[in-house]
Amino acid sequence: MRIEGVATRSIWLEPDGWSVGIFDQRLLPWRIERLRLRHVEDAAAAIADMATRGAPLIGAVATYGLALALRADAGDAALAAAHERLVRTRPTAVNLRWALDRVAARVRPLAPAERAAAAYAEAASLCDEDAAMNHAIGLAGLPLIRALAERKAGAAVNILTHCNAGWLATVDWGTATAPIYMAHDAGIPVHVWVDETRPRNQGALTAFELVQHGVPHSVIVDNAGGLLMQRGLVDMVIVGTDRVTANGDVCNKIGTYLKALAARAHDVPFHVALPSSTYDAATPDGASVPIEERAPEEVTSVTGLDRSGAVGRLQITASPARNPAFDITPAALVTAYLTDRGVHAESEGLREAMTAQAVIAPALPSPFPLGVTERASSPSRREMEGAPSGAEG
Ligand code: MRU
Repeated sequence: MRIEGVATRSIWLEPDGWSVGIFDQRLLPWRIERLRLRHVEDAAAAIADMATRGAPLIGAVATYGLALALRADAGDAALAAAHERLVRTRPTAVNLRWALDRVAARVRPLAPAERAAAAYAEAASLCDEDAAMNHAIGLAGLPLIRALAERKAGAAVNILTHCNAGWLATVDWGTATAPIYMAHDAGIPVHVWVDETRPRNQGALTAFELVQHGVPHSVIVDNAGGLLMQRGLVDMVIVGTDRVTANGDVCNKIGTYLKALAARAHDVPFHVALPSSTYDAATPDGASVPIEERAPEEVTSVTGLDRSGAVGRLQITASPARNPAFDITPAALVTAYLTDRGVHAESEGLREAMTAQAVIAPALPSPFPLGVTERASSPSRREMEGAPSGAEG
């Protein structure tokens, strides 16, 4: 991925060799700032407060959180407590538990003195594998876009996406965006309809990425997709996912299901970009997935740039609100799963493919350091609302 032309990843080890850098996504697209995580609690707070987000990336941040915890105390009790703290941060994306279980299983048999180094190494491998999986998803999805482009004889292929399943939600490439970036880089004309994705407006993050990569796009309100499909203005939908259950049901950001229904009604292909880290063979179906319910204030207010140029919040209603953050799209509405192990049109073959022996990740370029402003810690709510730093009561 590129930010202002500089190649980077969404998570990196700082030059000190142990603290961990991430972007503060609460300030994007308005300000590019990064956070430095030094303690397990920094990692847990960044995930819970959504400074970092997206199923694969929260898994990656959590694994480094575990490494940070072991650096301070590598005993059995500290390992168990850090695992428990991190896994509690968000309930829905399966990558979080998958990644934490993997690192914990790797370090538990080791002597305490060896655990922190092993955890860092495992976290780094997991990040490399995530980038490689997304690259493979891109290669799987690219021919589908190319085929549509050939049918359209040079006119742009219109792709609708929901939420942010781009490189900001992963270590690199993104899942839903990988085929789009590859198509654009291959000279295939594409245009992306970017769902705004209330209440957290992750569409603004997707739009930010597309600007950085030079991909033509338009942000639309979440309710516009139906009309656009009805008018023949959407050639395909590609979304990411937080968990695909054993039967192929897709848990993703709230609003995905309505897009899948509209796509089926208008015969628009509905594709789910699925890395094997997001496939949950242990959960039978979508009804069994815990759906995160976030604070009602996310619904009753919006965050954006005010006239003074500060990132601030504006209340839009004083009524009670509810805020389920994810929904379930039944497998029957999915045209195909674009995976790191090929394209699967049927949920039946998915289980075998996704649970088969892991594919060895090819080497990918390592991240470049990034010249952006660094914060010592997360900005407080007051600071985000425009109060100067240090003005807490
Ligand atoms: O609540 P978020 O922003 O973490 O939700 C993210 C999504 O729903 C993404 O679409 C999903 O995690 C896929 S990311 C590759």
